[in-house]
Amino acid sequence: MKLPIIYEGDARLQTPSEPVEAITKKIQKLVLDMFETMYAAKGLGLAAVQVGVNKRLFVADLQRRGEKKHVLINPVIIERSGEQTTEEGCLSCPQLFGKVSRAMKVRVEAMGLDGKHVSLEAEGLLATVFQHETDHLDGILFLDRLEPAERARVERKRAESHQM
Ligand code: NI
Repeated sequence: MKLPIIYEGDARLQTPSEPVEAITKKIQKLVLDMFETMYAAKGLGLAAVQVGVNKRLFVADLQRRGEKKHVLINPVIIERSGEQTTEEGCLSCPQLFGKVSRAMKVRVEAMGLDGKHVSLEAEGLLATVFQHETDHLDGILFLDRLEPAERARVERKRAESHQM
């Protein structure tokens, strides 16, 4: 079932999410629905909070780039190294794109949908997606990570598009 996505300006997106205590049927169904919602919106990642569920989990799919589908529950980034700047967007911030600097490589510890502990290393775009989605769980949007000049450029674009 496709779920409604909530948008920037909604206070829920600025609220840190709560840990998932157990992988219940409800969580399993939520994950399926989140994949369906993400595919329909053509996103690479989606955090539960973006469909209004205040739980620490996200899904990501970069299969077209040779990556696996990922479901990360209670993810924690335990190592970061290097730096990269990537043009990011977000399903909760339609039409807005901006360059964000993040770590090039990360190690993430989490729980999988089977309840097992997973430790993953990600690099490049996958590392960007993991950091972007983990930020959502802490109530942070990519807009909050923009350098002031880049933020101003994005806001100018937003104002222009609203005038039309
Ligand atoms: Ni996002």
